[in-house]
Amino acid sequence: MTVRTLEWVDDHIDVVDQTALPQWRRVALRTVDDVVDAIGRLVVRGAPALGVLGALGVALAARQHADGDLDAVRADADRIASARPTAVNLSHGVRAVLPAVERGPDAALAAARQLLEDDALACAALSRRGAALLRERVGPQPMVLATHCNAGALACVDWGTALGVVRALHGEGLVRMVLVGETRPLLQGARITATELVALDIPHRVIVDAAGPGLIATGAVDAVVVGADRVAANLDVVNKVGTYGLALASARAGIPFVVAAPESTLDPVAPDGVAVTVEERDGAEVLQFGGHRVAPAESTALNPAFDITPADLVTAIVTESRVLHRT
Ligand code: MRU
Repeated sequence: MTVRTLEWVDDHIDVVDQTALPQWRRVALRTVDDVVDAIGRLVVRGAPALGVLGALGVALAARQHADGDLDAVRADADRIASARPTAVNLSHGVRAVLPAVERGPDAALAAARQLLEDDALACAALSRRGAALLRERVGPQPMVLATHCNAGALACVDWGTALGVVRALHGEGLVRMVLVGETRPLLQGARITATELVALDIPHRVIVDAAGPGLIATGAVDAVVVGADRVAANLDVVNKVGTYGLALASARAGIPFVVAAPESTLDPVAPDGVAVTVEERDGAEVLQFGGHRVAPAESTALNPAFDITPADLVTAIVTESRVLHRT
């Protein structure tokens, strides 16, 4: 899959609309309001992609305030950085471009484009590192891997993190099957990860989220590989809700539970996972299915978009430059 999830074209940001997948549609983000809306509605989603969009969003703001009103650009940058709270990449991307704004819109765009290229390189590097780790841990025979949510090219620029590891292993003939958690309520696994695996011609089956831990317990899975939205200083991992259950089951079954994420997902300021704000999304996402209300009109929902996997359940966190272990 060589398509880029997001890029700068002429005077705007061109992105894959991830709400439409498996239908392919690209949309143009022309204003900071467009960017904030796209982040909130998950038109662009996935931690690394959010970081790059944050960077490009600041470049867009700098163009729109080409009169040099830096306070207005900074106000736009704040709005973008706070459009979603959990993935630390978003504020990282915004902060990376802000210093360049003082040198004008062209410098801001160049900085954002550099971040985009760096992300693509980082994801490819960490994917190779993660594949080597799993080859070493699981052995040289084709393996059954489980993943959750979407941590593929569409969550990044053009390669992926967890799915990048799968892709690298597949290139070596080492993937027998990928079990993909559908990822309720917004179905990033069924809609997005499965789409990527079809494009890559990698054997896979979509499972309901609740099936994952039980399948791991039966010995049907050799290793779990997921991405992350934020890794705290103590190496707790914040990722899509449902990740924690897979980690618990992996620890019980004694299989590797590997997190693949770029360095930009590490947050040394958050001492542990509990310190991270977990986004709570609209209950309607849970109470409806396919646009139809399935729960009684009287029911309300609790809809945390992420959960916290304690560091002691994580076998390793693989970045573009190192492998991190709790011990
Ligand atoms: O709510 P989303 O779809 O943005 O959540 C995304 C995830 O949880 C991903 O697993 C994570 O961002 C890693 S993406 C490489």
